[in-house]
Amino acid sequence: MSTELKITRPDDWHLHLRDGDMLAAVLPETARHFARAIIMPNLVPPIVTGDHARAYRDRILTALPEGMTFEPLMTLYLTETTDPDDLAAAFESGLIKAVKLYPAGATTNSASGVRNFENVRAVLERMADIGCPLCIHGEVTTGDVDIFDREAVFIDTVLDPLRRAIPGLRVVMEHITTADGVAYAQSADQDLGATITTHHLIINRNHILVGGIKPHYYCLPVAKRESHRQALVAAATSGDKRFFLGTDSAPHLDHLKENACGCAGCFTATNTMSLLAHVFEDQNALSNLEAFASLNGPSFYKLPVNTDTLTLTKGAKAQWPDKIDTPQGPVTVFDPGFDVFWSVTD
Ligand code: DOR
Ligand code: ZN
Repeated sequence: MSTELKITRPDDWHLHLRDGDMLAAVLPETARHFARAIIMPNLVPPIVTGDHARAYRDRILTALPEGMTFEPLMTLYLTETTDPDDLAAAFESGLIKAVKLYPAGATTNSASGVRNFENVRAVLERMADIGCPLCIHGEVTTGDVDIFDREAVFIDTVLDPLRRAIPGLRVVMEHITTADGVAYAQSADQDLGATITTHHLIINRNHILVGGIKPHYYCLPVAKRESHRQALVAAATSGDKRFFLGTDSAPHLDHLKENACGCAGCFTATNTMSLLAHVFEDQNALSNLEAFASLNGPSFYKLPVNTDTLTLTKGAKAQWPDKIDTPQGPVTVFDPGFDVFWSVTD
């Protein structure tokens, strides 16, 4: 007997699409299931002006295969020289939906990120005035802080002081990985949300390191210990409006992941909805999957929810390709390490 679950079509509130051949290869994987996605601006060079965002949006729409619909929700990459007027014009025209803050050096292509927060204060104050959300990669980058502590230290030493200094700034804590992140997101009733990735609901740090190093499980922020994963699962499956799906699906060519200095990122666009159905069912929380994947994100971003639906069916073992091909080589699809019986059927 098969079981069906019909939900409002989901959105992905944190996605890396890249550019060129990679964009063409991975875009259908997202557009097949998701109506919209917040598009990360960490290209080389990054998307820092309204003009860049408009041109990138056009390249995404050009790469979309015939017959597919998808709305890219564009973002700007915040630098210490971002022009507040250009940002405000891009937000007020509807071109961009948010601005992304990477602390310099935190992750892939973050060298142009913010070093001194005083240098972006005027821009952040403008964003608070116009209601433009700030998506934050919340990790400190100083060498003296252990990589597993970087999120918790960021919350105490950067995020909380920043939110107090700029009241009304709307903040998304991107890809939270700790119980500390969950607790901080729960500490505010408005102007604060948090995305959670698919892979952080499934793996802990043992999956990366036990029995040989697994480069396809390496991402940033790095997965933490099991108790943190459990806190993320509890938050995501609770239905709490403050938590919503941001896959952080981040394609890298296999030879750059399976490398002495492997890139950070898990590619989950292809199988995210099957995996989430599995995780939510496991918690007896299938009825909250729609809130997490389809309702809470639009509510934070003050956008309408999608009007069409997505159907998941539980039956035979779900199938997906091990790899997505690109002209430069394959990209490995995230392997949860267990069988999944939920498939997207409509
Ligand atoms: O694992 C990650 N990959 N984390 C990020 O923050 C960036 C992303 C990427 O762009 O590859
Ligand atoms: Zn990301």
